[in-house]
Amino acid sequence: MEKTARIYVAGHTGLLGSAMVRNLEKNGYSNLLLVTHSELELTNAGAVLQFFQKNKPEYVVLAAGKVGGIIENKTYPADFINTNLAIQLNVLKSAHEAGVKKLIFFASSCMYPRECPQPMAETSLFSGYPEPTSMAYAISKMAGMQMCLAYNQQYGKQRFIPVIPNSAFGANDNFNPQGGHVLSALIRRFDEAKKTGAETIALWGSGTPHREFIHADDIADACLTLLERDTDTLNLPLNIGTGKDLSIRELAEKIAKIVGYHGKIECDATKPDGAPRKLLDSSRILAFGWQPKVDFDAGLKNTYEWYLENIAEKK
Ligand SMILES: NC(=O)c1ccc[n+]([C@@H]2O[C@H](COP(=O)([O-])OP(=O)(O)OC[C@H]3O[C@@H](n4cnc5c(N)ncnc54)[C@H](OP(=O)(O)O)[C@@H]3O)[C@@H](O)[C@H]2O)c1
Repeated sequence: MEKTARIYVAGHTGLLGSAMVRNLEKNGYSNLLLVTHSELELTNAGAVLQFFQKNKPEYVVLAAGKVGGIIENKTYPADFINTNLAIQLNVLKSAHEAGVKKLIFFASSCMYPRECPQPMAETSLFSGYPEPTSMAYAISKMAGMQMCLAYNQQYGKQRFIPVIPNSAFGANDNFNPQGGHVLSALIRRFDEAKKTGAETIALWGSGTPHREFIHADDIADACLTLLERDTDTLNLPLNIGTGKDLSIRELAEKIAKIVGYHGKIECDATKPDGAPRKLLDSSRILAFGWQPKVDFDAGLKNTYEWYLENIAEKK
């Protein structure tokens, strides 16, 4: 990929899109196409086609989509499936028609069967039902991944690369305590509990499910490796994880320590747990030559610092 290549990062204001932009800029890519959601509605097929025809991106990172935690997924399943299917349909079709050289598509670990053998290898996809609470989101991601593979198969070239990152965190995450992911929502709740002097904090669910978290900068680094290198014979899709997980209770304790919250942590078993464990087998991408670099505790600390500077102080 030439340093002057036209690269469209769809969803560049979000968690993964902004990490991708930071990574591309750090590595000398300067010809980035960045348009906000209000400038381009990706569920609008005509607008997307027009954008691709006019701007002719050579590479695309599709980091736009509807994302949320357990409660949001349970409350708005129709929005999740509609928005993601429409974005994927429009962007993949337009990218194909505009002759895009390579496109990265973010699928999700929610696609794996709820009772999947751990760690979850790509070969386990479609071997069972995904966790019911995020079924609509999971199905939209399975469709997007399968569309990528279908284009590659029908047109005889592996141009669309579906990747499956595990739970991401970092700058520009959604820190909403209701709608955000567990890690960012906990950062906010612990910070607020510290500031109000709350004696206890309720942890959603039993605290026992295990999750693998990966810093958005590591995911962006993996995607850049995939954009830069020959991926013609790679086995797709590709998991992207760190290989390490921890329980939600352990995560909460780490966050409490970083935030400086000294109250009690109590589990609220009336709230749903989600899948018991979601650890990815990332052997494929490790064999391709990529490795995660961000230390988890350091990443957690810099995410909290970003939250303090960008969200907490502005409230
Ligand atoms: N976060 C994770 O842990 C994770 C893990 C695996 C896969 N993924 C996938 O990776 C992608 C990015 O996730 P993320 O966490 O970075 O999401 P995010 O932080 O919520 O960012 C989503 C981005 O997409 C834009 N967007 C949403 N709907 C749009 C629309 N209809 N038209 C145009 N732009 C739209 C948003 O802009 P506005 O904010 O202005 O609406 C934002 O820039 C998603 O497809 C997600 O499913 C995420």
